[in-house]
Amino acid sequence: MSWIREGELTIIERFCANIIKAGPMPKHVAFIMDGNRRYARKCHVERQEGHSQGFDKLAQTLRWCLNLGIREVTVYAFSIENFKRSKEEVDGLMDLARQKFSRLLEEQESLKKHGVCIRVLGDLPLLPLDIQELIAKAVLATRNYNNDVSESLLDKCLYTNNSPDPDLLIRTSGEVRLSDFLLWQTSHSCLVFQSVLWPEYSFWNLCEAILRFQMNYSALQKARDSYMEERRRQQMERDQAYVTKKLQQEGFASHGDSRRRWTLLQKCTAMREERIQGFLQALEHKRADFFERLCTVSA
Ligand code: IPE
Ligand code: IPE
Ligand code: MG
Repeated sequence: MSWIREGELTIIERFCANIIKAGPMPKHVAFIMDGNRRYARKCHVERQEGHSQGFDKLAQTLRWCLNLGIREVTVYAFSIENFKRSKEEVDGLMDLARQKFSRLLEEQESLKKHGVCIRVLGDLPLLPLDIQELIAKAVLATRNYNNDVSESLLDKCLYTNNSPDPDLLIRTSGEVRLSDFLLWQTSHSCLVFQSVLWPEYSFWNLCEAILRFQMNYSALQKARDSYMEERRRQQMERDQAYVTKKLQQEGFASHGDSRRRWTLLQKCTAMREERIQGFLQALEHKRADFFERLCTVSA
């Protein structure tokens, strides 16, 4: 049997899924799967059993997402803080992750047919040390180009740069915090906190979260659009200021003639793009080296 559970929705689930799908759907959903140990205590089973059922619930949830047409899911399965738990618990969680995720990766090819792509990332520091060093160097090298350092550049530096930001983030178990998960990427996401413990998560809980997303959809869109617009406006303002300074240095009046101004603006944008591409390529190489070293150490 496939790890992402085989099987379709029941008739009633399918019926409700079709109604929900008539509204705006989140394309990317992030889950903070919380409450495994409370579930184990509640059901008088071993803690490891709670975690195991938590992983199985993930498989089931991915299937629901697939049925609902949600192609991108990011999950918080383990945090750096979780290393502070007992060795026995951490080892148990690592074993489960190894078993379940390697199975998921094996199924990757067949899932690709459904347009699903899987990336399993451990919990890594936002920016490993040598990448911080690279950024520091780049900032020094580009100190004459303050315009390069922007929020959109920061987006491109993150591990999640290949994905759109989550539209919807769900945390279970009644906890109402993000615990350092996707802090930057969820600033315009719909945050839904549900009291259900993760191993008990149901199709209906997922529908409820999507409905909450739909009820807030236009406000979310509006906030995101105006944020993007503000970013563009600020970048344009900085570029204009740069051009004005350049023109003044070259002895032209502060507004210069509009053709010269336009040409300079185009040139400045193209050169920035080139510098940024160079920086991102260097960052990509550093990151590849970092992962390679990480794999060698843990092999
Ligand atoms: C979430 O459940 C899973 C992990 C953190 C690995 P917890 O283990 O945090 O369970 P609770 O929140 O203590 O019930
Ligand atoms: C956060 O869960 C991480 C995961 C769910 C994997 P925790 O239960 O460890 O989070 P805090 O420490 O209560 O915020
Ligand atoms: Mg917890």
